[in-house]
Amino acid sequence: MKNTNNQKTALVTGGNRGIGRAIVQSLASKGYKVILACRDIEEGLQVSRDIKGDVSVVQIELSTPKILAKQIRKIDANFPQIDILVNNAGVCEERNFSTLSTSDLMYSMQVNALSVYELIQFFANNMSQRGYGRIVNVSSGWGTFYEGLCGPTAYSISKATLNAITKVAAQNYSSVVKINAMCPGWVRTRMGSNAATKPPEQAAETVIWLATLNEDGPSGKIFRDKKPINW
Ligand SMILES: NC(=O)c1ccc[n+]([C@@H]2O[C@H](COP(=O)([O-])OP(=O)(O)OC[C@H]3O[C@@H](n4cnc5c(N)ncnc54)[C@H](OP(=O)(O)O)[C@@H]3O)[C@@H](O)[C@H]2O)c1
Repeated sequence: MKNTNNQKTALVTGGNRGIGRAIVQSLASKGYKVILACRDIEEGLQVSRDIKGDVSVVQIELSTPKILAKQIRKIDANFPQIDILVNNAGVCEERNFSTLSTSDLMYSMQVNALSVYELIQFFANNMSQRGYGRIVNVSSGWGTFYEGLCGPTAYSISKATLNAITKVAAQNYSSVVKINAMCPGWVRTRMGSNAATKPPEQAAETVIWLATLNEDGPSGKIFRDKKPINW
């Protein structure tokens, strides 16, 4: 399954619905080979059938480190060249500080942040060796100190950690691997609800821009609507 032409390969987590699905659709329409990573393979296959382009489906469960490590190795064995990694999957636990247990906090930390650390470490090392890589972490303004960390407790803490991972990871790789975060805004998905203001396709635009940055593009920053925001 090694690429024989210059077609770049993108791995997108949570590609089965919401913003992730819009990212998969957009990258596939632009001619990228897309690996749609999701928990339910059947659901992923159904989505891939509805999308025109080169889309493969792999299983990824971010909440359990041991399972995730195995799944990453399997993805690597089947797709040895990942050029673009979009860490989109996430959860929003609604409980607040006074009722959220440490184990519930840890679940959000694992899905929203620590799994991303694991994925970046694995794929960025390979990207660095090959001299090209783009990594986009779908984060949130609720995870920025600048905007007050004012979301639900586990969400804000885990997205703040994701932002820190983004900045630290970018510092650890040369500029051939560009690692950025973005806030999609309030988006009409299961997480964002029908009341949200943005369609997923619009939220995906900033992701696609960061996933396809030129050599002189930024790294170690966070964006909303293609403009930098403060951490
Ligand atoms: N919607 C918004 O307004 C908004 C605002 C700011 C940031 N974001 C961020 O945007 C990203 C995408 O969110 P969305 O709005 O598209 O939400 P969504 O429709 O709820 O989609 C969430 C995705 O994450 C996947 N996921 C959840 N837990 C997982 C786990 N343990 N392992 C693997 N995959 C898991 C889900 O898979 P299943 O289908 O299997 O559950 C689904 O594909 C998230 O990181 C979110 O924090 C969204």
